[in-house]
Amino acid sequence: MSDNRMRCAPDQRLADAYLCQAREAAETGAEWPSPSLASPVRRLAVVGAGTMGQGIALCALAAGLEVRWLDKSPQALERGLQRLRQSLEQAVARGRLAATARDERLARLHPTTEVSELSDVDAAIEAVFEDVAVKQAVMAQLHAVCPAHALFISNTSTLDIDALAQGCGREGQVLGMHFLTPAHVTPLVEVVRGRATAHATLATARALAQALGKLPVLAGNAWGFIGNRMFEGYLREVDALQLEGTPAERIDQALEAFGFALGPCRTLDMAGTDLVSQVLAARALQFPHAPAYRRVTRRLAELGRFGHKSGRGHYLYEGRTARADPDLARVCAEEAQALGIAQKPCASDEEIVARCVGPLVQEGRALLAEGMACRASDIDLVWVLGYGFPAARGGPMHMAAVVDGTTLSAA
Ligand SMILES: NC(=O)c1ccc[n+]([C@@H]2O[C@H](COP(=O)([O-])OP(=O)(O)OC[C@H]3O[C@@H](n4cnc5c(N)ncnc54)[C@H](O)[C@@H]3O)[C@@H](O)[C@H]2O)c1
Repeated sequence: MSDNRMRCAPDQRLADAYLCQAREAAETGAEWPSPSLASPVRRLAVVGAGTMGQGIALCALAAGLEVRWLDKSPQALERGLQRLRQSLEQAVARGRLAATARDERLARLHPTTEVSELSDVDAAIEAVFEDVAVKQAVMAQLHAVCPAHALFISNTSTLDIDALAQGCGREGQVLGMHFLTPAHVTPLVEVVRGRATAHATLATARALAQALGKLPVLAGNAWGFIGNRMFEGYLREVDALQLEGTPAERIDQALEAFGFALGPCRTLDMAGTDLVSQVLAARALQFPHAPAYRRVTRRLAELGRFGHKSGRGHYLYEGRTARADPDLARVCAEEAQALGIAQKPCASDEEIVARCVGPLVQEGRALLAEGMACRASDIDLVWVLGYGFPAARGGPMHMAAVVDGTTLSAA
């Protein structure tokens, strides 16, 4: 996408009308099996009491479900419980939740470290570490104790649903539901269908997502699904810009001025460069001749510059306050030199935005061509509702159509 065309002022009314149609298309699309195939989910297991497990448990409690909350580590379970209680207390303090509703929700929550206590659930959502072997082991454990009708749902960010289902004993009842962080707030979930996922499983997962207050969008089973595959293309360009000498704070400022809720370098520091690098290790195998691939992110992780959690990443942190880190330029320059990349910082904000948003559109088009997304407007919903893309621009696919002088139908 050219820099000049990026200057196009957003047409908020056009974008609003488009996103409304997009939602209707996602809700009524022929990709979903008949709702009559869905089974009720009244008791839900949430496996993992980390960041995502806590958000999913909060959603399920708000939706009136009985929740069995499992973590293998008593300490992690206790930390998760403390955070969950804090979140409910905050809602009460802000007048958004009655104290009686808080108590009633907590009474429906059953924390445990014993998988045997999940013997009566209708479905289990796993949010354990992003590792195929760990997730497969969890599925096998669940299969041994859960009722025969129970669905197994993975909240994986990137992994192959078929590989996770393999050997679990009920492949037809396995699928992905990719909640976005914070899981109790973000209004959308990507539903990922595996090769063996049965129609009834898909219908039940869709109904569950709706009961949890989420808009379900169907995504194909390929690395990163819709959202993270595109995000990776965007962040690849952010990394390349830094190797070329464009400072992190300039990249963030340009993309925040464009309308993103948070710049990409701040986002990476929030997620943790260490965790992101673990995911990238598997992804890097798909770019065998690209030593520059996400080099800055990986280098920051090697240097222990994980982001917020270590007080230093792309920025220096005092609490939540970020300050530009002059030393980052040296790290990027050293990496560029080792890779033979000439440093030539971006001249304009328009160029930064065009470089980063361009891959979003390219990856979006590839997802459509590969049949991994049902429609361009689903991609826009994922980006606007899940990744902070400016709603006034209607999403990357809508924006690209507008700057090309065409219109995109949300059907
Ligand atoms: N954090 C995000 O922004 C985000 C967003 C979407 C999806 N996800 C995905 O959600 C999953 C969880 O991510 P997270 O950030 O919550 O991780 P986390 O590290 O915060 O929490 C994982 C929890 O799982 C527990 N655990 C590990 N193995 C277990 C087992 N065998 N049985 C029971 N509990 C076990 C750990 O003790 C830990 O408490 C990952 O697959 C991740 O890719 C994360």
